[in-house]
Amino acid sequence: MTAIAIDGPAGAGKSTIARRAARQIGYIYVDTGALYRAVGLYMLKQGVDTSDSQAVTPLLKQVHVTLAFQNGEQKVILCGEDVSCDIRTAEVSMAASNVSAIPAVRDFLFSLQKDIAKTNDVIMDGRDIGTVVLPDAQVKIFLTASPEERARRRYEQMIKKGEQADYSEVLSDLKTRDYNDSHRAVAPLVPAANAIIVDTTGNTLEQSVEQLTSIIKKNLQYN
Ligand code: DC
Repeated sequence: MTAIAIDGPAGAGKSTIARRAARQIGYIYVDTGALYRAVGLYMLKQGVDTSDSQAVTPLLKQVHVTLAFQNGEQKVILCGEDVSCDIRTAEVSMAASNVSAIPAVRDFLFSLQKDIAKTNDVIMDGRDIGTVVLPDAQVKIFLTASPEERARRRYEQMIKKGEQADYSEVLSDLKTRDYNDSHRAVAPLVPAANAIIVDTTGNTLEQSVEQLTSIIKKNLQYN
């Protein structure tokens, strides 16, 4: 099986860009952030402090989370319920960032991610895919953009969906998540030693998809 690892900070466009690239090369696209979001959502529903490892860890045994793929689209199933939409709120984003710093949560989701890559050709996106989950991935990419550009894209997405949004709040949330994700003790967000760094600041979506697809194709040929 072939694995392509794509890591990078929140809002770098990983999911949109990687999903399109996966379609072009015929791989399944796996968004691992959705798994952390599902755990975050579960803990919010239980009313526990999502950054409290002592409170979160014992509840993990009740969490049944799986990914299903329908026509190439990933669905997130939490305890039998499709939560693919419910996990996209700002509250769940922060909860996901909190639970992702808890080692037991990372262990809990590790084998699920590995198993998907054992049986499928994947483009997997996350924060620690090239460093921890799939260290032997054939191609590793670290996709990034400036915080202001990432916040602007997120803000525009929210406005487009008819949601309430405040640019400075989006930027400050994003910087908090960047800080949390790159400073946690376990599996912090860092580029893998052999990752190709791709900065999409100033690119259109089409340019980024084109750039990513051509890097992947070029690197798969030489592997
Ligand atoms: O990619 P995302 O914004 O949906 O991810 C949600 C949170 O999950 C993010 O704050 C960091 C965490 N995460 C992680 O720690 N490791 C991954 N492989 C994917 C996401």
